[in-house]
Amino acid sequence: MERRGDRPAYRTSRARAGSSGGRRRAGRPGVPRGRRAAARGDRRIRPVRHGGRPRSRQQGRQQGRQQGRQRPRQRGRQRRRGCRGIAPHARAGGRPPEGSPVTTLSSSFRLADSVAERLLRLTAAERHKVGFPGWSAAFPQPLVPFLSHELNNYGDPESDPVFSWHTKDLERELVDDLAGLFGACPARPWGHVTNGGSEGILYGLWLARRKHPRAKVYHSRTAHPCVARNAGMLRMENVAVAADVRGEMSYTDLMRRLVADPNPAAIVVATIGTTLTEAVDDVRSIRAALSAAGKRYHLHADAAMSGIPLALHAEGRPVFGLHAQGADSLSISGHKFLGAPFPCGVVMTRTLPARHPGTSDLLCGASDSFASSRNGHAALILWYLLKERGISGLRELAQAGRATAEYAQRRLVSAGWPAWRAHRHARTVVFPAPPRAVLETWALPVVRGVSHIVCTPGVSRSRVDRFVAAVGAAIPEPIKDGQPWTTPSRAV
Ligand SMILES: Cc1ncc(COP(=O)(O)O)c(C=O)c1O
Repeated sequence: MERRGDRPAYRTSRARAGSSGGRRRAGRPGVPRGRRAAARGDRRIRPVRHGGRPRSRQQGRQQGRQQGRQRPRQRGRQRRRGCRGIAPHARAGGRPPEGSPVTTLSSSFRLADSVAERLLRLTAAERHKVGFPGWSAAFPQPLVPFLSHELNNYGDPESDPVFSWHTKDLERELVDDLAGLFGACPARPWGHVTNGGSEGILYGLWLARRKHPRAKVYHSRTAHPCVARNAGMLRMENVAVAADVRGEMSYTDLMRRLVADPNPAAIVVATIGTTLTEAVDDVRSIRAALSAAGKRYHLHADAAMSGIPLALHAEGRPVFGLHAQGADSLSISGHKFLGAPFPCGVVMTRTLPARHPGTSDLLCGASDSFASSRNGHAALILWYLLKERGISGLRELAQAGRATAEYAQRRLVSAGWPAWRAHRHARTVVFPAPPRAVLETWALPVVRGVSHIVCTPGVSRSRVDRFVAAVGAAIPEPIKDGQPWTTPSRAV
């Protein structure tokens, strides 16, 4: 969050003029003048409601007018300054054209200003984006016109709604392509676009509960917190299994817990790329533990983080894929490796799931998704990104990310900061949390003293160089003993 006294240099002059340190009269810090006046019972000045604090005198006057204050006299310079924000229809004294989002002088003025400022802030933040798995791929130009149209993939992906403004045909193609990548038998997979990885896991657990109503949900303690949260929402008991130092599930602990569980069935969520270290649970070992414990089961692969890049690196079917020796259901995030500009994801099942009773829907016959109205633009953009890049283009992205991560790990170690990766394909470089200044500038997550960078396709080597230079400059003294900080990587 932007702090006082830490305003970045890219703020526009108008935004600076409107900031609290500018021309506004000094008052009790932190208390808006309107509120104080209102508290005193001064009825002439009412609290600012809709726009929050006025950002400039002009906005303040406009807000005041909207709230019934009399228009004050304007001096020439101020009047001229105000004209810059007038929409053409307003200058001509007419009504805005129908459908125009701009209705008043100051709303157009404030809107343009705040949008421009936000864009500058966002663009500047990109320079330091290394801490999270999402990235901003260039938005495909052919899709821009679609942003002016509603696209609602209402209900079940298999049946089209009565209206035509949907992209369910593309959604089905997307699911087929992705399921193919995950080694599914072409005729059988089923799935739909979700709001993100978390919703995909929720859906996987929902299906699992239909098959095994009282089974517990097992996951590693390094699994994403949404697994436990989703289990709670579905009133399923969850069990956090121990993990090794890399973050991978302990199969001995899993086995021990399965054997102690009297229920003949179990549900396991395997994480294919943990959030902090990108560790990958071994689906083969999980299945072996489940069979040895004599359980019937449903296995969901949470592949939000690394499912696609690992499937692209795999020789043959990925171990965690949608096949008889893999997972029963699998979910990914669309805004991580694929680079969709908003949160979205896909959940898929190995076989057509039994429908939830009472799923008949007014608009499209059946509905077996959580949401009724679903994001048609998400399906469109994911479908497009997959088709445009193709498997070979995506594989290049995955390989480039892995190479950048290798490079970043090397550079950090030679700068005197220990770093490791959970496995040879990992795009995540893990290290002890660097000093606070680095964490703040580079917006890095920290969990129990451990931090990371994720080499998404958006992270270039020059960005890594700047990051490493910042770490080198901030650390008290380099650690040059040549010892790996913790365990070496494992083959995935
Ligand atoms: C391993 C893992 N699972 C699930 C999620 C949740 O995915 P989403 O943010 O798309 O809901 C994340 C998010 O970072 C994740 O890393």
